Amino acid sequence: MNKIQKLIEENVAALVILTLITISVAMMVEILPLMFSKSVTQPIAGVKPYSALRLEGRDIYIREGCYNCHSQMIRPFRSETERYGHYSVAGESVYDHPFQWGSKRTGPDLARVGGRYSDEWHRAHLMNPRDVVPESNMPAFSWLAVNTIDPTVTPKKMAALRKLGVPYTDADIANASKEVEGKTEMEAVIAYLQGLGLALKNKR
Ligand code: HEC
Repeated sequence: MNKIQKLIEENVAALVILTLITISVAMMVEILPLMFSKSVTQPIAGVKPYSALRLEGRDIYIREGCYNCHSQMIRPFRSETERYGHYSVAGESVYDHPFQWGSKRTGPDLARVGGRYSDEWHRAHLMNPRDVVPESNMPAFSWLAVNTIDPTVTPKKMAALRKLGVPYTDADIANASKEVEGKTEMEAVIAYLQGLGLALKNKR
């Protein structure tokens, strides 16, 4: 065994420090180039920041834990693109903070569910999934039809997202409360779902 190897293997502190340095360098090589790559930091054509109503719908999606059963990440495999459409690309989620890619599919992937069903189908499905898909084991979310959106927080959420780089204009923020006022959580979630994945919808 050569001297350096002996030193590292017999000195725990040296082993830990050198291991950390090795991992750090490897991480920088992997992660830093991504931060400067346009294909992962710029939105693709057709991707816009969420409207006020869709943004509220997205927050309800997170609150209700829909991501525990639904991914929003179509992998570039034939079996997935045949079923769901074009595979997901990074430029589709640049305005998602945090993104909803998920990793668990008890239900189908929702990355391109926008436009697949009517609003009325979604309403019936969320009220009681078994009414439209008899074998479904998805829980009902009927309270969404009763709760209304609190319009006072929407502009604050948009202002916070603007700090993270989402290009909301002053007018977007000023009109946000009006857009969500009196709307139910059901309407917001459906608006969110209906816009998912449209940018690459018809491409395979
Ligand atoms: C316990 C797991 C579970 C949770 C939580 C869940 N779902 Fe589902 N979801 C499913 C299953 C299973 C299906 C497939 C059967 C069906 O269509 O009901 C499904 C289907 C769907 C579909 C139809 C997708 C398609 O392409 O046919 C939509 C839309 C959907 N869920 C939205 C939601 C939303 C929104 C939430 C949160 C409010 C949610 N789901 C929470 C399990 C779940």
